[in-house]
Amino acid sequence: MNELYNKAESFITQYYREKKLPDSARNKRLNEIKQSILSSHTYEHTYDELDFGAKVAWRNSNRCIGRLFWNSLNVFDAREASSADDIRQSLFNHIDYATNDGKIRSTVTLFKPRRADGSDPVRIYNHQLIRYAGYRQKDGSVIGDPHSVELTDFCEKLGWKGEGTSYDVLPIVIQVEGEPPVYFDIPSHLIKEVSIIHPESDAFNELGLRWYAVPIISEMKLEIGGIEYVAAPFNGWYMETEIAARNFADEERYHQLPKVAEAFGLSTLYQSSMWKDRAIVELCTAVMYSFKKEGVSIVDHHTASQQFAMFEDREKGEGREVTGDWTWLIPPVSPASTPIFHRQYENTWKSPNFFYQPSMLDTAVKSGCPFFQSIKK
Ligand code: ARG
Repeated sequence: MNELYNKAESFITQYYREKKLPDSARNKRLNEIKQSILSSHTYEHTYDELDFGAKVAWRNSNRCIGRLFWNSLNVFDAREASSADDIRQSLFNHIDYATNDGKIRSTVTLFKPRRADGSDPVRIYNHQLIRYAGYRQKDGSVIGDPHSVELTDFCEKLGWKGEGTSYDVLPIVIQVEGEPPVYFDIPSHLIKEVSIIHPESDAFNELGLRWYAVPIISEMKLEIGGIEYVAAPFNGWYMETEIAARNFADEERYHQLPKVAEAFGLSTLYQSSMWKDRAIVELCTAVMYSFKKEGVSIVDHHTASQQFAMFEDREKGEGREVTGDWTWLIPPVSPASTPIFHRQYENTWKSPNFFYQPSMLDTAVKSGCPFFQSIKK
């Protein structure tokens, strides 16, 4: 049999083993899959296989510190969605369910997978379903999130126009095979955002920082048993350093450290005064404080590291080896104060898993997507 069958076999075997289901049932299922691959070069997962596969993909995500909760992932099967309208509805439903008014639920929505001939029924252009626009100015500076400049340009070429603030939520851009990409705005009542305020500094509050509640990665592919779910947006909840020490702090992102230092009256004359470090800690404090105050799920990096250590123990108890990418697992703030820093991890990638894939945006922008060319003004 072929490569796809081999991948299916190893996934199905894992599924029946972990679920403690009888070998006879497994053999029957494998036979079914073999017949399907012989006649149509592909096979379809049952809902239970999908549910298990997506959870294990999370468990296998080497870069994720939040894996303790892999088994509580909510898996939505949207393989029936075929029109742009259906897909939009499923995405709104995901955002609404995952947000849960702040009590964030880890969720993945699976759309139709890649076909046997390699074509994709559905693709999403966005890096995350909710993300702020970045508007490149004539002088080269950016208003908003510099990470979003390309997608923002693309949306504008499709006809979208944002307000031009630092925190405009981008529309979602999707493409159904055989059709041009389309965009739609997310109704604002579905988007939960948090004003970032500091418990002790009014000057900090003047910065007017804000961030959205739910990070929903939407450009990665979920591979289960050789089937590639090329549109499979998934979310957890934030760890405070992601927002505080990266999104707000990176010079290539919102670049707020000098402003935060100023708000706290820290001199930025000598870097040896540790003004950057102190500003980062104040940002972390403010992000934690604000999310908690608004009742939005968030975890600090110390607790997340402890939870990861617990995940390692549990996996060991189950006789499974935890793989990991140390460079990603350690938090960007005080890494050596967490247990992860002092351990080593094997960085091999198990399947099922989430993988990067060529982004639709790059393909459209760089190779000149014909649809894009035709609607370009
Ligand atoms: N680091 C990304 C961001 O700041 C989000 C990645 C996923 N994070 C998560 N906690 N599930 O937007």
